[in-house]
Amino acid sequence: MKVLVAGGAGYIGSHTVVELVKAGHEPVIVDNFSNSKETVIDRLEEITGTHLTWYRADLADQSLTRAIFEKETPDAVIHFAGYKAVGESVEQPLDYYENNLNTTFSIARAMIASGCDTIVFSSSATVYGDAELPLTESEPHLDSLSPYGYTKVAGERILTDIAQAHDLKLGLLRYFNPVGADASGRIGENPLGRPNNLMPAVAKVAAGRQDKLLIFGDDYPTRDGSAIRDYLHVTDLAKAHVVALEKLGGFDSSVKIWNLGTGKGTSVFELVAAFEQACGFELAKEVAPRRAGDRAEIYATPTLALEELGWQTELTIEDMCTDTWRWQSNNPDGYPDGEAQSTPSSVNAS
Ligand code: UD1
Repeated sequence: MKVLVAGGAGYIGSHTVVELVKAGHEPVIVDNFSNSKETVIDRLEEITGTHLTWYRADLADQSLTRAIFEKETPDAVIHFAGYKAVGESVEQPLDYYENNLNTTFSIARAMIASGCDTIVFSSSATVYGDAELPLTESEPHLDSLSPYGYTKVAGERILTDIAQAHDLKLGLLRYFNPVGADASGRIGENPLGRPNNLMPAVAKVAAGRQDKLLIFGDDYPTRDGSAIRDYLHVTDLAKAHVVALEKLGGFDSSVKIWNLGTGKGTSVFELVAAFEQACGFELAKEVAPRRAGDRAEIYATPTLALEELGWQTELTIEDMCTDTWRWQSNNPDGYPDGEAQSTPSSVNAS
């Protein structure tokens, strides 16, 4: 399949590009590089051993998006394009709603106009809001505490309505906590500024780019007092996108939803201990007050993905830490600045 990867230069997008090529598909990367660097393209070409087709384009621009779809005629889309920082979304809700929703509208319009009928949407467990565990895909009440999260709730709903009306195949993938990096150590998560999420913060402390790790709360009603999450390796997650794309056409329903996680919780203290094991030294850390809006415990019920896609995670917390450390220690400041060596494709938008 020729697969247009919207936001393909980002963290999960780039790992999915690698897995698409490994599975024999042809990715077309479209990214505006607002939160990524062009040099990731060179790394992707190096890992995959192929020349990649890529565009520097803002998918919120409808005529440009349509021109790319008309030129490339992709069989399917994986839609990762969007802003994703929870805290920033509270400060700048209009930017989040405008960007994340306009990108979705624009992609949907271009799909309908060009006859592309399959889309996988990058959603999040954040759509469960504070619903009670176990979290299953049939949960009727979706909500979120942040504008970022609400763009995922709204994106799911908007795409569902469009898919049903226009007979598209839609897969909504609800990620739990993606971490880790490709085993090559050449691509990984590269947050600009101080990381908000736990694994990037741990990695920055280990690489000497942040003085100490703050552990947000040791007084939760959990086994060691710290909060519990369901971390999954980004390579397992990337593979789930490929399987979802390949299998979407085989279901009666035009819209399918899958939780993607391990089904097992790991506490903050446990994750930090596993990372210290992987890097071989102790990290500077300090317990701090709970972070506003955090839940004590959240983990996936991933059984539907196993039953319907035959997908389950294969990599462990140890793999997640080892691979993150390989990426971070080889690239303490992330990707190099500057333009890609690889030449982008271009289109003339009317
Ligand atoms: C967060 C977002 C979620 C988003 C997900 C993306 C919030 C409230 N939720 O989830 O919407 O989809 O990231 O992966 O922001 N922690 C520390 N020290 C740190 C950073 C985090 O102790 O420096 C703790 C947090 O308090 C939390 C756990 O680590 O208990 C995991 O945090 P994080 O990686 O931000 O993920 P989530 O909060 O699950």
